[in-house]
Amino acid sequence: MAEIDMTSKYSDSRNHVALITGATGAIGKAIARQMAAKQGYEVVLLCRNERKGREAVQEIKHATGNDDVRMELTDVSRHASIQSLADRWTGELHVLINNAAVTPRRRQETAEGIELQWATNVLGYFWMTQAFEEVLKVSAPARVVNIASYWAGDLDINDLEFKRRRYNNGTAYRQSKQANRMLTAVFAGRLSPFQVTVNACHPGDVNSALSNDLGFGGHESPDQGARTPVWLATSPVGEQETGKYFEHMREARDRFMADKLAAEALYEVCLRY
Ligand SMILES: NC(=O)c1ccc[n+]([C@@H]2O[C@H](COP(=O)([O-])OP(=O)(O)OC[C@H]3O[C@@H](n4cnc5c(N)ncnc54)[C@H](OP(=O)(O)O)[C@@H]3O)[C@@H](O)[C@H]2O)c1
Repeated sequence: MAEIDMTSKYSDSRNHVALITGATGAIGKAIARQMAAKQGYEVVLLCRNERKGREAVQEIKHATGNDDVRMELTDVSRHASIQSLADRWTGELHVLINNAAVTPRRRQETAEGIELQWATNVLGYFWMTQAFEEVLKVSAPARVVNIASYWAGDLDINDLEFKRRRYNNGTAYRQSKQANRMLTAVFAGRLSPFQVTVNACHPGDVNSALSNDLGFGGHESPDQGARTPVWLATSPVGEQETGKYFEHMREARDRFMADKLAAEALYEVCLRY
């Protein structure tokens, strides 16, 4: 890992804007709260459920004393919903944390007919990054943090939506988390000339709706799960490193990002949605 420059421009005193998807969930809400607790951050919670979003905003304002916390209603499984958020967005964006994901036990599709895990966990990250690319560039230095998982694999570029394979939520989830890492590498390459870093991480094993649907509990708290994402979003490491995968606040070995051709092919497929 490169030596870290502690004089990072990011540690200056200007206000930073952070947008977190899935901010009403176990890890997402902890990320939003920890970000709001940091000096100089305006935090925007991207939520699909208005009531849960409002409650989370109040809870975080109360817990941190930061009044610069608000929500945006968006369904990240739908391209039009993300585009509408980007269209109404004003001002800068310094930190985008792609975190929202689902693991339905039975195969489901969006209204547009896209398999739901593929639409939410992969295209949601892809469309968010794409829709905010220009805002991130003009706000630079800026960062994208993609919440992936150490549980990843089984990507089949010829059957991304389980039309041929029998749907299994664990396999679909592992595929989506492999795709998160591969697309992190592509966006990192695209955005590195503009001082926008893109990194991926495993948050931790946390009890949540998502992990329960996969048949797991979790031995780490949401706050523990938020530590690595928040560290990437706020520390000099996350400003200086790009295209990397982290676990427990350390760069970790990755077997998916090095195959640039496969990652570019996946990016091209995502562009066609
Ligand atoms: N939990 C773990 O052990 C674990 C391990 C490795 C990686 N991760 C990763 O961590 C991230 C967060 O997972 P979690 O465990 O915190 O799950 P969670 O508690 O189930 O939270 C998921 C969040 O995503 C939101 N969401 C789902 N579909 C959405 C959509 N179409 N539009 C907008 N928001 C949507 C949910 O909204 P609602 O609140 O409205 O349902 C919820 O806020 C995921 O990317 C997951 O892959 C988790």
